Amino acid sequence: MYRLGLIPGDGIGPEVLEQGLRVLEESSRRYGFSYRVHHYPFGADHYLETGELVPDSDLEEIRNLDALLVGALGDPRLERGFLEREILGRLHRELDLFINLRPVKLYSEDLCPLREANGHGVDLVILRENIGDAYAGLGGFLRQGTPDEVAISEAVFTRRGVERVLRYAFEVARSRPRHHLTLVDKSSLVPAHELWQRTFAEVAREYPDVKTATIEVDVAVAWLVRTPEWFDVIVTTTMLGDILMALGSQIQGGVGLAASASLNPGQVSLFEPIHGAAPKLAGTGAANPIGAILAVQMMLQELGEVAAASSLDTAVRTTLNNPDLKTPSPSEKGLTRKYGELVLKAIR
Ligand code: IPM
Ligand code: MG
Repeated sequence: MYRLGLIPGDGIGPEVLEQGLRVLEESSRRYGFSYRVHHYPFGADHYLETGELVPDSDLEEIRNLDALLVGALGDPRLERGFLEREILGRLHRELDLFINLRPVKLYSEDLCPLREANGHGVDLVILRENIGDAYAGLGGFLRQGTPDEVAISEAVFTRRGVERVLRYAFEVARSRPRHHLTLVDKSSLVPAHELWQRTFAEVAREYPDVKTATIEVDVAVAWLVRTPEWFDVIVTTTMLGDILMALGSQIQGGVGLAASASLNPGQVSLFEPIHGAAPKLAGTGAANPIGAILAVQMMLQELGEVAAASSLDTAVRTTLNNPDLKTPSPSEKGLTRKYGELVLKAIR
């Protein structure tokens, strides 16, 4: 009996998560697992009504869950990034979800905007450390608002934090057919990134079966555009990962198709689509739920329901290659449910 926390959140979050839950229910019937859900109201409306973000009591309850599924967070009534930082960022830090992992898998060549990438099988994973770098939130302002203002944001890296995400990345590379891991950083310019280089070289000695490369981030983005199929597993810092992952989501067909796992293996972890709340689409029934469905797929994989996860991955591939969907108008009403129906049909 899996204990799952649900945070539908804002904008299109509830609608896309609903489709993810329909698929989860079908998978549980077919693969014989059970789960109980705990709803959490975190998000813009709840915050504006109560001033609450993530109460300590809820946080303690969440620690005892098996997984968290998030729909989307963000609302134009609040400062951009506020809810993400104060809800997702807090969950990442308090639950020590030190890994952020996002697959970049091209399910249908028609979805890729890059001419050369077609036909070469784009299937990579981007991993980043998830609570350090500039996301640690250290820094501040001197003489704010004056012509002499100084603004500082510290990029924080610890040996322990760098080593544990690198070890996880080597394990992921070892588990994949190509056994290849690329460290992406900017150590030629950012001295602190040299800690990544040294730690990477040390840990690599324990994984002689994993082929490695280290690439500067500007070169990596260029190669991701020209030859994305070259990459297998990428590991990088929090900030650089945010940018690489956004590029990766476009290569696989758009943010509506991309999912994210924030992990601390063996304890409650968090799974979400990366598209954000998209307030203009809220309530239209036109949002693409594939990102939320792939978040469920990643959760099932992490929970060890590998047959259900594999079946769901295949069902998404079948759906995204369905001729009926080849020309969906972006604002087509009922598209959200239509995608959900097609994935359910493909599972069955
Ligand atoms: C993402 C987002 C977040 C990040 C923001 C909302 C904090 O850009 O999930 O990619 O930068 O990690
Ligand atoms: Mg981002």
